[in-house]
Amino acid sequence: MEGLQAVVTTAPSGDPAEAAELAARFGLRCEGRAGRPLREIIAGAGAPVLVLAARRADLHQLERVYRAGPGMALLRVLRARRGESDPLVEVAGLGPGERVLDATLGLGGDALVAAHATGAPVVGIEADGLLAAFTAAGLRRVPGPAREAARRIEVVRADHRQFLEAQPAGSFDVVLFDPMFRRAREAGPQFELLRAHAEDAPLDSATLLQARRVARRGVLVKDAAPGHELHRLGLVPRLSRRSAAIAFGWADSR
Ligand SMILES: C[S@@+](CC[C@H](N)C(=O)[O-])C[C@H]1O[C@@H](n2cnc3c(N)ncnc32)[C@H](O)[C@@H]1O
Repeated sequence: MEGLQAVVTTAPSGDPAEAAELAARFGLRCEGRAGRPLREIIAGAGAPVLVLAARRADLHQLERVYRAGPGMALLRVLRARRGESDPLVEVAGLGPGERVLDATLGLGGDALVAAHATGAPVVGIEADGLLAAFTAAGLRRVPGPAREAARRIEVVRADHRQFLEAQPAGSFDVVLFDPMFRRAREAGPQFELLRAHAEDAPLDSATLLQARRVARRGVLVKDAAPGHELHRLGLVPRLSRRSAAIAFGWADSR
């Protein structure tokens, strides 16, 4: 999909001002409906089209439709509300009031779980403009008990390498990384979307060092079990009790 500028438009219930705002923030092209049927806009775009309705946002891409929203993370929030521990929250030791920087926001699932666990704002960095807009639109529309947590996530389109360099030391409590390297084996519509658009350069040691400077407590890195990428980065894999597919690495701040 490279080289094509994605489009944001509205369904009849959507707000054109939101389409203009998301397009401007995330580098997409805003197209007003002007009475045109959606299929005409999609056919003419030659690129993915994000359609904002009042309660949902859908991305139309190559004859497929992806509904914006944090998917399985909603279940993780519900489990947390029942008192069950979440592996990411547990390994990162996230507590109330802590400031989290999610350096690989993606579809916002881990950021949502972190925002719920801390009750505090989370900053989520996403390199890809379309994913950033899709995730921002989905988070605004999260219903029910995760709604408040979703509203506390600030979506920033940036490369985390430059973003981290610009942050003062200790400006967040914890920095999270969930790079694309652990997605190669995963299937499903959300991963299809990530694979089509995501930045997939591996996390490098210099970036991890920057994150350790920016984090007051430390940095959590997610990998596929058994954690080959964690070993490469000099981290000790901790296997998740809930998912045999995930390994976490923790690096204290420096
Ligand atoms: C595997 S996904 C993260 C999924 C996320 N944890 C979730 O729960 O939805 C990785 C995301 O990080 C983004 N990413 C990778 N490298 C990045 C970078 N250098 N700066 C900003 N975002 C980056 C990718 O574009 C992708 O969307």
